[in-house]
Amino acid sequence: MRILVCKNYDEMSKKAAQIISSQVILKSDSILGLATGSTPIGMYKNLVDMYNKGEIDFSEVKTFNLDEYYQLPKDNIQSYYYFMHKNLFNHINIKKENINIPNGMNKDVEIECANYDEAIRKIGGVDIQVLGIGNNAHIGFNEPNDAFIKNTHLVDLKESTIEANSRFFDSIDDVPKKAVTMGIGSIFASKKIMLLASGEGKAEAVYNTVYGDVTPQVPSSILKFHNDVILIIDEAAATKLN
Ligand code: F6R
Repeated sequence: MRILVCKNYDEMSKKAAQIISSQVILKSDSILGLATGSTPIGMYKNLVDMYNKGEIDFSEVKTFNLDEYYQLPKDNIQSYYYFMHKNLFNHINIKKENINIPNGMNKDVEIECANYDEAIRKIGGVDIQVLGIGNNAHIGFNEPNDAFIKNTHLVDLKESTIEANSRFFDSIDDVPKKAVTMGIGSIFASKKIMLLASGEGKAEAVYNTVYGDVTPQVPSSILKFHNDVILIIDEAAATKLN
């Protein structure tokens, strides 16, 4: 596991975008695994800027998002479908058919999950997976649990996650209680993983990821077993590492 500590959020965002851009320059038909939440917004802004300057071409890129809320329509402004289009897809030349986001509205959620994993497998796996990290060390929506869950699945969100995500909603009651998320195995199938963390609120989760025991109670701790992981974090998120 490599750790790159950046001065602040802006530097973290720039570095992360440079890594994604290098990946796409090296392999124009890269498969990118993408995350939502507040952390990668700056990275997406940088990628849009690079695209506008003619520095990256997304025409052959395919994407797989980590997760989506369950039973929240695509056009709801809190859906991850909406988030990705607003922050990235509407501003670059990615083809609609190359975008994959779990469909949390599918009535047959088991089929949705199985098809999602199959699509990732069929394409040969993600080249680089972007992750954020929850205050409770969740990755995707793999919440602290008694066991790691391998495949894409429907998950009950923890109270702490619902509370953390309520900042984006009018009221905590509006936050969905369930989500569809890639499992740990789906994430691990990625060739490279880049985890982003910013702010002191993430410092403990980052510390546990790097130094803690590998346990499903700290889902990100399993990243130690992947052979190509880079943590790009700002100084605030790195405070407990020294
Ligand atoms: C989002 C996701 C989540 C977030 C995490 C951190 O697709 O999978 O694991 O990365 O909840 O969210 P922020 O960045 O808002 O602190």
